[in-house]
Amino acid sequence: MRIQYLGHSVLMVETLGTRLILDPFIKGNPQCPISVDELPKVNYVLVSHGHSDHIGDTIEIAKRDDAVVISNFEICNYLESKGVKTRPMYIGGKVPFEFGNVKLTPAFHGSSISDDSGTIYAGMPVGFLLESNGKKLYHAGDTGLTVEMQLLKDESIDVAFLPIGGNFVMDVADAIRATSFIMPKKVVPIHYNTWDIIKADANKFSDGVVKSMNVECLILKPGEWIEV
Ligand code: NI
Ligand code: MN
Repeated sequence: MRIQYLGHSVLMVETLGTRLILDPFIKGNPQCPISVDELPKVNYVLVSHGHSDHIGDTIEIAKRDDAVVISNFEICNYLESKGVKTRPMYIGGKVPFEFGNVKLTPAFHGSSISDDSGTIYAGMPVGFLLESNGKKLYHAGDTGLTVEMQLLKDESIDVAFLPIGGNFVMDVADAIRATSFIMPKKVVPIHYNTWDIIKADANKFSDGVVKSMNVECLILKPGEWIEV
């Protein structure tokens, strides 16, 4: 599984001949090093919740690439009304795709979509547990620290992407506690320094997880790839 960090909470994943993009906030994302035009063709778009810094360019990308959006029921309903193909799921559900399994996990946050018609209820926010080619990736979405994360320890996660920016999501201290709940092989901080309101010190997070639980922390620059 190859993973490219595209800034904020955006990940591109390539595995078994399939390309996925998670929370494709490209236009207006000050950290994203590519434009929508430069984004290669994707097969699936995973959307954790309705906020604009996550649903982002989903409609444009999904229509352009005839991609399937995997998200919660309400977001899928909204996207279907815009002519997008979807696979609705919900927390606890695990679905096999040709590239592997996707399971939706709880996230403690809000979820609404703001468009020309106003504010639309977008169901519960989620995280993603993606299992492909013998590897497991966890993308927490936007969330505070939750005890539910303790359940993820049993999953033997290879790489966990956790928000650390505070204010709307976990701060560094809580993200360190979340890492101790999940105990992934590797952890990557996301959702920080995009704007001043979510400023955070990734080195402090890295020092915390390395010193207290010896988990490897990768601080990725937008555009950087890793392989797990
Ligand atoms: Ni959000
Ligand atoms: Mn967010």
